[in-house]
Amino acid sequence: MPLATLFSRYLPAIENELRAVVAGGDPALAEFYEMLNYHMGWVEHGQGPVVSGKRIRPLLTLLTCSAAGGAAERALPAAAAVEFIHNFSLIHDDIQDNSPERRGRPTVWKLWGQPQAINAGDALFTLAHLALQRLAERGHSAQTSLIAMSLLDETCLRLTQGQHLDMAFESRESVTVADYMQMIESKTGSLIAASAELGALCAGADEAARAQYRAFGLCLGLAFQVRDDILGIWGDSAVTGKSAATDIVTRKKSLPIVYGLERNESLRRLYAPECNGGGSVGEIVRALEVTGARDYAEAEEGRLSETALTHLAEAKPEAEAAVSLRQLTGELLGRRQ
Ligand code: IPE
Ligand code: IPE
Ligand code: MG
Ligand code: MG
Repeated sequence: MPLATLFSRYLPAIENELRAVVAGGDPALAEFYEMLNYHMGWVEHGQGPVVSGKRIRPLLTLLTCSAAGGAAERALPAAAAVEFIHNFSLIHDDIQDNSPERRGRPTVWKLWGQPQAINAGDALFTLAHLALQRLAERGHSAQTSLIAMSLLDETCLRLTQGQHLDMAFESRESVTVADYMQMIESKTGSLIAASAELGALCAGADEAARAQYRAFGLCLGLAFQVRDDILGIWGDSAVTGKSAATDIVTRKKSLPIVYGLERNESLRRLYAPECNGGGSVGEIVRALEVTGARDYAEAEEGRLSETALTHLAEAKPEAEAAVSLRQLTGELLGRRQ
């Protein structure tokens, strides 16, 4: 089933679940809910089209539930929870990365200022937990809910650890590929791994099967972040919806950069933290391209995506959902958005 068909099948239920959790209605809190609804892609703010996220993580949760032998709808509370955590992390990430644009629109902090954006992020974090409480209404046991809650909280902790490393690396001179992998495993891999594992949990899968889905999600998440790094340098901002140069301006140690810094002395000089503002984005990208960093990162993305598929096969998924999960993995590889 093509990805577009998959989305049209599952997206309405995902959006319903997300909206039911956000709710709102008190006129005194209209602006509070406007921020949340704006970030989730449900309302415009002034001019500009409504732009939503790709909803990859909740789709993954529903598909892994199905693949592990469950009814996809039973994983909707978990699907909503991972999407809320993702969106909480993005509101805070845009402050942390000084990013003015996301999903083709100004970021929440650009419109409402950093103090209010921090608070809106906190609200989405909390809503993720409330979303998960709805597992009981879908007939899950208290035991399953508790496992899901601890899985979600361990994931949030990992995510903040990854964000810490990501920011710390900006001013660190030497970052190895191994350091980088640890950082992205935490900041991005952990949530995508949890998205897959929670789906399997909602299907009643045992610990061993859950571990296979977690490994699948982790490798998929690593490939996903490597692609995000490539898009952060060579992406078309009209398609990604994010400003093109932010990663370089903030001196991120993304994978192409880590690879290039190990190989090119002039790039090391241009990229040195004390040189901030010295090496222009154009100069840095030119020095980077000499090293073959883009080819290297694309090959890594491909390798990680292959490993994800190997783990998926080991989980012995149900046939129809397996086709969809392979389709999703294939379409994320080399994506432009
Ligand atoms: C962006 O994630 C942040 C990363 C972890 C790379 P997505 O690309 O899934 O963001 P949206 O939700 O589709 O905007
Ligand atoms: C992705 O951060 C991870 C989290 C938000 C937790 P990035 O900073 O790499 O993602 P984008 O490029 O801003 O979406
Ligand atoms: Mg960012
Ligand atoms: Mg970031």
